[in-house]
Amino acid sequence: MKVLSIFGTRPEAVKMAPVVKALCRETAIQSVVCVTGQHRLMLKQVLDLFEIKADYSLDVMQPNQTLNDLGARLIALLDPVLDTVKPDRILVHGDTTTAMMAALTAFHRHIPVAHVEAGLRTGDLTQPWPEEMNRRYVDVVSDLLFAPTMQAKTNLAAEHLAGRAIVTGNTVIDALRLTTSLLALDEQLRQRLDTHFPYLMPGRKTLLVTGHRRENFGAGFAEICDALAKLSRRSDIQIVYPLHLNPNVQVPVLAALSRLPNIHLIEPLDYLLFVRLMQRSHVILTDSGGVQEEAPSLGKPVLVMRNVTERPEAVTAGTVQLVGTDSARIVAAVARLYDDDAAWEQATRRVNPYGDGRASERIVDVLCGRSIKEFGAEHFKPAEATHLAAKILQ
Ligand code: UD1
Ligand code: UDP
Repeated sequence: MKVLSIFGTRPEAVKMAPVVKALCRETAIQSVVCVTGQHRLMLKQVLDLFEIKADYSLDVMQPNQTLNDLGARLIALLDPVLDTVKPDRILVHGDTTTAMMAALTAFHRHIPVAHVEAGLRTGDLTQPWPEEMNRRYVDVVSDLLFAPTMQAKTNLAAEHLAGRAIVTGNTVIDALRLTTSLLALDEQLRQRLDTHFPYLMPGRKTLLVTGHRRENFGAGFAEICDALAKLSRRSDIQIVYPLHLNPNVQVPVLAALSRLPNIHLIEPLDYLLFVRLMQRSHVILTDSGGVQEEAPSLGKPVLVMRNVTERPEAVTAGTVQLVGTDSARIVAAVARLYDDDAAWEQATRRVNPYGDGRASERIVDVLCGRSIKEFGAEHFKPAEATHLAAKILQ
């Protein structure tokens, strides 16, 4: 069976890397990889780290690309690849424009689509935007839905899609485990990685920040920058923010924060360095989807700069808290975790609601027609299925 994996952004690459590795190990499958290059540099960082060679590399990215221009170019470039490869099925991930356009192009050619990380929902098409629509679209056209959690499968059941859904765990935990086991085994590697952060001072605790969501552009980022400026005045804090390359992030953040002491605005980090920096952080402040899933596994408290999340499991477990983008609210939530040791301890409990490191193996087993034991069924409490998404408590 010929399986064509199509992905193009940093988070898709992190989460598809262990799947591609598992596909390559399976003799019954011929694995072909097409990267769209929706992210040119941030994608390359991940491919290099996991030593993945793309069979097709489309280089679709344009500076400050619009969604429609990106979408149109993706269809035009992906269609000839499908025509040449003639895969038995394609595999796409998550909720990006790459995933949606690849699914649409395959659907038009009657090629079956399998969706990795299916069933995440906030129930609100405006947040995350446009991702909530993208993931719904991909779920509708896919005949195999690899749901990361029982909650995600329950969301699919509400849309009458449960018959195509299998709970595998999230492949991000596979990627994270591969990375943390490398780090755990190799003291020299940890020391070498730490030389990338010479500015980290032992007397201050690190607040790691990431932020890039389209719905936060403009007013949201102004509030976030205001909060970071206020927090940087604390004597016990140092802020590290690897800046996303989107100019809508770079320009306002650099203008507001580049001259402030205790704030280190740095280039996007390759995955190994980023995991190391997560390990060394006291608190993580983010609007990222993937970081919300990784940090609880590392026992790091996460404050999420969104009003609603499609990943409610760690909110329920108490390691993730939604804080929105209001400056005062962000400052208060960070201060609480810095000032109240009991609150910080409570939020550092290691929880793995998102996976057990075997999601890729389950996905390949299903593709090969082997039966699997779904992830997490034994721990799932039906009462939790009643809420679709976690929302900020005002
Ligand atoms: C995309 C995804 C989002 C995901 C995010 C992860 C969509 C609609 N959005 O949003 O779901 O959370 O990636 O980061 O698919 N750029 C570079 N080099 C890079 C990457 C980006 O220069 O390696 C710049 C370019 O100017 C590019 C811009 O960032 O045009 C925006 O990239 P795009 O993929 O359109 O949007 P993201 O905000 O990254
Ligand atoms: N990440 C990384 N380097 C960074 C910031 C994030 O490797 O400088 C990783 C992070 O660990 C996670 C993924 O990128 O696995 C998340 O990507 P992003 O936040 O861009 O997208 P999202 O998850 O929000 O779609």
